[in-house]
Amino acid sequence: MNFTNFMNSKILIIGTGGREHALAWKFAESLGWNSVFTAPGNGGIPNSYPLDISDFQAVENFCRTHQIDLIFVGPEQPLSEGIVDYFAVTDIRVFGPDKQAAQLEASKIFAKKFMQKYGVSTADFQVFSHTDEARKLIEEKKGDLVIKFDGLAGGKGVFVCSSVAEAEKALAELEKSYGKKVDFLIEDKINGDEVSVIAFTDGKTIKTLLPSQDHKQLFDGDKGPNTGGMGAYCPVDMSPGVWQDIQENIIQPTLRGIQTEQMHYKGVIYFGIMVKNGKAYLLEYNVRFGDPETEVLLPALQTDLYKITEACLNGNLSDIDFAFHPGYFADVVLVSGGYPKQYEKGKEITGLEDLPEDILVFHAGTKRENGKLLTNGGRVLNIVAHGNSLEEALEKVYKAVEKIHFEKMYYRKDIGKRKNYEL
Ligand code: GLY
Repeated sequence: MNFTNFMNSKILIIGTGGREHALAWKFAESLGWNSVFTAPGNGGIPNSYPLDISDFQAVENFCRTHQIDLIFVGPEQPLSEGIVDYFAVTDIRVFGPDKQAAQLEASKIFAKKFMQKYGVSTADFQVFSHTDEARKLIEEKKGDLVIKFDGLAGGKGVFVCSSVAEAEKALAELEKSYGKKVDFLIEDKINGDEVSVIAFTDGKTIKTLLPSQDHKQLFDGDKGPNTGGMGAYCPVDMSPGVWQDIQENIIQPTLRGIQTEQMHYKGVIYFGIMVKNGKAYLLEYNVRFGDPETEVLLPALQTDLYKITEACLNGNLSDIDFAFHPGYFADVVLVSGGYPKQYEKGKEITGLEDLPEDILVFHAGTKRENGKLLTNGGRVLNIVAHGNSLEEALEKVYKAVEKIHFEKMYYRKDIGKRKNYEL
């Protein structure tokens, strides 16, 4: 830890979840908590401020008041709305891609065409601009396909279907939200093992963090509705051949594309990958850290995060070597009963004071009121443990989870227990 180099820097983290708490915690290692601000933040992140993050003028005013010189953006929305472009003409730096490059996440069609153009391994696809145009393909494929709305939809724009009835239901949902004239794509469904690879780029180099795995569905055994993520762990053990395939056929062609298109991309790039029969396919790009992957990736990262951020912004990422703590990190997400549908807020959270010192707690949907910590969202807390083996990390994390209580608390019991035959 070295506060002296960065003594004068102050950072604003934009966002509100467990990802942002993990980011704030990691930046506080470099800068000290007094120099780390988060907006809007939550009940667990020190220096949280209730700011409208879609109002860039308000964000700028806030930065000027607090002498903040660097903004780190957690979620995709401000990036796709052009926060990097807005601040480009100011002396405040923003870490992330500009609006055009953020289309890699904001437009599924843009992303697929980019992948196709630069030879990034991905599933075959067709583009549509009217729901009626898709019916023939749905019949041909017997509904066994993936339908993706072109734009950002807060995780609700992707439909993984197994029958004509499911695909028709997905089209009906698209029509309900956007009408019959809607831009979307249909791609082949690949049933394999999923892995998240999250990396930094300065536009010239891409350097990866440890491979990690999210658990998106609500129930054990990957059943039930999709959520924002019920848990994660890292590193994911993978055969050298699969890792080489990811490097050669996904990451390097992506970098070539970023360079050739002269994208302004100084930020995080997330590769959502499916592996099947020894071959890796890119499902999606995100232009930001994943949640809950960040909650295990940052504790595992030994290298100073501020130093990496500076290197990306200055274009010298190739000078930085990433180091990681040995062992495994596991995160179990505690959610409000009823999530991802209807759930109640305002339940008192107890037991955090009883956790062992080596357990990390990253808050998501929490708030403080009258000295009490209360639930304030669907995903409430991330509980993170480290172990020499994955089994040890999981044993520690689940022991910690048992000490925590709030009314109707729910969590998955099988985080980190997939077999991952394809990896
Ligand atoms: N964990 C998936 C995401 O952040 O999009």
